[in-house]
Amino acid sequence: MKGIILSGGSGTRLYPLTKVTSKQLLPVYNKPMIMYPLEILLKAGIKEILIIVAPDHAGDYLKLLGSGKEFGARFAYEIQDRPEGLAMAFLIGEHFIENDNVCMILGDNIFEDDISETIKNFKKGGHIFAKKVPDPERFGQVKFDEQMNAVQIEEKPKEKISDFAITGLYVYDSRVVAAAKVAKPSARGELEITELHNWYLKKNELKVDVLQGEWIDAGTFEALFKATELARKKSQK
Ligand code: TTP
Repeated sequence: MKGIILSGGSGTRLYPLTKVTSKQLLPVYNKPMIMYPLEILLKAGIKEILIIVAPDHAGDYLKLLGSGKEFGARFAYEIQDRPEGLAMAFLIGEHFIENDNVCMILGDNIFEDDISETIKNFKKGGHIFAKKVPDPERFGQVKFDEQMNAVQIEEKPKEKISDFAITGLYVYDSRVVAAAKVAKPSARGELEITELHNWYLKKNELKVDVLQGEWIDAGTFEALFKATELARKKSQK
């Protein structure tokens, strides 16, 4: 299993903080935000990790994380010139992934649940994680039937289809690269990760777990504050 941390984007909702640094390098309690998703991959035993960053503060990531030796892993870096969508990560990472399974996590997502065992046990297909939220309009959504099987997935639909948001941690087999190659950009001009979920869903090869603990996409001031509170709570457990 290989790992990807997608840490590009422009972080406009956190201006002016993100005028001088990258969103995922901002402090969340006692360390930079990206350390939280990194720790999840390391805990799952992943040793090869590709870190995809925007051009502006790429040097600061290298300074913070280095070769990976300090973490018992090996880090590679790629630049995403423009934020053209989450699914782009699998095109940028094509040669890194090769024929391996891959776990991608967003650099601004903080999870309370321990997902490491689930990642370790992954064999084939796709496995994603949903969370019931009060503001599903901000996210890709997944609708379940009575048996909690995923039946429909949509990227920020105009009319909400569900209260379950799809969180920023995705485990796929290596076919995800082929799926990303046939995906078409959406109306907003991005290669959407929901296209990839649907690629697996149509084949009946997508597993969707519901998270019990807190999940924070730290992209707004309010969420950033909550992330700090959660990290503080976890560190004192
Ligand atoms: P967003 O929070 O949707 O976008 P953003 O980080 O650019 O922030 P804003 O909307 O405030 O301008 O992105 C979610 C995560 O995915 C975040 O960690 C950035 C990352 N991302 C990329 O790395 N590349 C991309 O092409 C996109 C769309 C997002």
